[in-house]
Amino acid sequence: MKESAGAASLTPPLHHHHHHQHRLRKKLATTFAKPTAYIFLLLVSYIFGYLSASSSSSNSNIINHHNYPPPPRSSINTTNRAITNQVSATAEDHNLFGTVCAAKAVPPKLVRRTILDRVFNGTSPYDNFPPPHISHVLRPNKISGWGSTGAVFEHLIRKVKPKTIIEVGTFLGASALHMVKLTRQLGLPDTQILCVDDFRGWPGFQDRFKDIKTVNGDVMLMYQFMQNVVQAGATETVMMVPFSTEAALEKLCTWGIYGDLIEVDAAHDFHSAWSDINRAYKILNPGGVLFGHDYFSAVDNRGVRRAVNLFARLHHFRVQVHGQHWLLYPIK
Ligand SMILES: C[S@@+](CC[C@H](N)C(=O)[O-])C[C@H]1O[C@@H](n2cnc3c(N)ncnc32)[C@H](O)[C@@H]1O
Ligand SMILES: *[C@@H]1O[C@H](CO)[C@@H](O)[C@H](O)[C@H]1NC(C)=O
Ligand SMILES: *[C@@H]1O[C@H](CO)[C@@H](O)[C@H](O)[C@H]1NC(C)=O
Repeated sequence: MKESAGAASLTPPLHHHHHHQHRLRKKLATTFAKPTAYIFLLLVSYIFGYLSASSSSSNSNIINHHNYPPPPRSSINTTNRAITNQVSATAEDHNLFGTVCAAKAVPPKLVRRTILDRVFNGTSPYDNFPPPHISHVLRPNKISGWGSTGAVFEHLIRKVKPKTIIEVGTFLGASALHMVKLTRQLGLPDTQILCVDDFRGWPGFQDRFKDIKTVNGDVMLMYQFMQNVVQAGATETVMMVPFSTEAALEKLCTWGIYGDLIEVDAAHDFHSAWSDINRAYKILNPGGVLFGHDYFSAVDNRGVRRAVNLFARLHHFRVQVHGQHWLLYPIK
């Protein structure tokens, strides 16, 4: 698969520089007296670090696609690292998710095609759906969700008029199909909704959703979601990206698929929410809005709220609460 050059330059070639630094250091160590060499090396590694940092930030191929302030650049102490020749993690590493995605954004009109090509080998997964051996375990229409029809959806779709919506955490499609209804009502028939979910639910979720059947250990969540999309006549509007949130969001970033509205509603523990929010932020379009569910959920000592608040503090956002949902707006 072809990966864009823009994404490849995301991570500075640390290895490369290190290698050179290493060789250079060896050579120098033999020609200089020890204390002199040490000071000299400090200087050399400092310059190397400076050069690699400034070359990546001045790369004209990279476009920052959001008007939100970019996340802070790596604050790893390269001077220190060159001396010990090992990568040392700091607490701040938790905040490093990379700053830029593909230089060229996929135009909204080509988003669906791109997903079909990249994820489904060019064929719509709705073709010949449902497969005969599965159809008997599906309900014609089985939709349940959480706060899936909250007023926040209409508020944001009216306001942003999104061409591309990315939902992170879809389950049976309740909120996605509510957004389909809204885009139709609000005269936005071309809006595409991408649904990121591994469609596994969580271990034991069928205790609560007894009518979702398992076939040879495979929960039929994706098929039931697709059945719901078919039932709603929304196969041309809704497309799933059926992978873990981290794998899917990183690929969308690499491919240059950006969202105008991105809703985060996958796992609700702090670390999952933190990762999802940071990865979603990278693929948010200028003027777009990042929002999500369950600001008030008690899971993991209010993990979602802690992640949202921390993110807002680090990136200078204002958190707005709308029903059960949180929204992030840049502080002007
Ligand atoms: C709360 S439900 C989403 C509800 C949906 N937004 C609605 O309103 O109907 C959370 C979903 O996130 C998915 N999920 C949780 N962690 C995930 C992960 N790491 N990768 C992909 N999907 C995940 C689960 O499979 C589940 O379907
Ligand atoms: C980086 O590490 C060096 C060597 O340990 C130290 O002298 C310097 O103060 C550090 N700089 C920062 C910004 O932490
Ligand atoms: C992908 O599509 C091509 C062309 O239609 C086909 O030859 C190939 O077998 C498909 N690959 C998979 C993994 O289905």
